[in-house]
Amino acid sequence: MPVSTALASHARSPTPDDRPIKRVKLEEVEERCQVEQEMALPIEFVKAYEHELEYRNQLVLAPMVRTGSCKMSRLLSLYYGAGLVWSPEVVDKAIIGSERIVNPETGVITYTKGQGPIFSTHPLEKPYLVFQIGSSDPELALKAAQTVQQDVAGIDLNCGCPKPFSRVSPLNHETHSGMGAALLSTPDLLLEILRKLLGNIPLPISCKIRLLPTQPDTLTLVARILRTGIRNLTVHCRTRDMRPRERALWERLGEIVALGQRRNVPVICNGDGDGWANWNTIRDQTGADSVMIARAAERNPSVFLPSGPRCNVTEVVPKLLKLSQYTNNPWGNTKFLLSQFRPSSAPISTLSKQQKKDAQEAVSRSKSLEEVASQLGVELSGGKELLEEIEAKLADRPSRDAFQQRDRAVEEGRVMDEGRVMDEGRVMDEVPESTAQSRVDGFEVGVGQAQAELGR
Ligand SMILES: Cc1cc2nc3c(=O)[nH]c(=O)nc-3n(C[C@H](O)[C@H](O)[C@H](O)COP(=O)(O)O)c2cc1C
Repeated sequence: MPVSTALASHARSPTPDDRPIKRVKLEEVEERCQVEQEMALPIEFVKAYEHELEYRNQLVLAPMVRTGSCKMSRLLSLYYGAGLVWSPEVVDKAIIGSERIVNPETGVITYTKGQGPIFSTHPLEKPYLVFQIGSSDPELALKAAQTVQQDVAGIDLNCGCPKPFSRVSPLNHETHSGMGAALLSTPDLLLEILRKLLGNIPLPISCKIRLLPTQPDTLTLVARILRTGIRNLTVHCRTRDMRPRERALWERLGEIVALGQRRNVPVICNGDGDGWANWNTIRDQTGADSVMIARAAERNPSVFLPSGPRCNVTEVVPKLLKLSQYTNNPWGNTKFLLSQFRPSSAPISTLSKQQKKDAQEAVSRSKSLEEVASQLGVELSGGKELLEEIEAKLADRPSRDAFQQRDRAVEEGRVMDEGRVMDEGRVMDEVPESTAQSRVDGFEVGVGQAQAELGR
């Protein structure tokens, strides 16, 4: 063989370095073929619902244990313009068998069992309320959905909670493992739960996932999920092992959105949404249909307002206190919500640094609703009227386009957005206090051991 030919063939043969790359590429090609095969299959449950939900072109409130367990924060989010609101994750067995109690004066509906309330809601939020279930069992998921279906507008399956007890329970390995993000590793089970809900619940079904470590694996899973016939997919753009303070990987969402478009399923982007302030950036970078907001809304529920958030201390807190008084919300729960609020920065707030500090101290010192109201100079009456105002706003909603409102506010120079607020050092996905304490405080118990103890 001529030397030149020998050299050329040597040059073409793979080096130890590029062999793995080729293998990875081959795996990727195979995965992409799987995606295409999946996408070519017919939708499993083709359904029409009496009440369809609008998942597109919205800023929506994320499911949040503790913060979101409070119907007041959901009502306030709706008041300020959230398109839809998610309940916190409620574990299937915790809600199954609970008693439904309606307060004839306020209308508040409470599902209660054992030592405390599991979930409560106000009828005003029903058309916008998506109930999130934590489950690893199709039958239990169905029973849980059937328990609440009369009071909610949609059902969502949580496939994103990374907490260890969702994956393996120290109490009961057999029955309590495999919920939340663990379902991402058991896709057949995940799909079985969705199918069970789709086949039996007369409400739109959706699903919230996290990204898998690799993009091809994520796309394969998404293609399978989309085929079931769900109405919406929310993607928390972090992997299971990423911490909340790590940047959300929006750059991985575009391909997922494209699959959603082919199945006509809206894809909601979750992770680092600030409200209107970065909605355009997220839409440009991902093509997502909507944005789901968790921590920014926890800091200030008025983040949903098209003209930008309002001052927490002077505008949002008084409303929260009035609603709390009227709906007889447990003080521990109200106090927790107040303690999550971060005072707004200038120019949204005209309060001095000292005034903001005083307000925060008043909240942490106070031992009752009356005490905090008097410290902050808030008149507690007027909750009923505020609920009527929320009702009127919601009734007026179909005639108002939030995007037009935003554009008009921008044109007229009325927008005041807040800069990015980072939660350095705070582990956001974790429930900070013990669930036993939650029960003492009168919380509806969200994700957690307490639910497991109550329900299983
Ligand atoms: C206090 C808190 C509680 C949460 N509880 C839930 C939950 O019940 N179900 C769920 O799917 N995600 C839950 N999450 C995750 C959020 O819904 C969201 O995916 C995450 O915070 C990323 O959004 P963000 O960057 O807008 O905060 C929770 C997050 C926080 C901060």
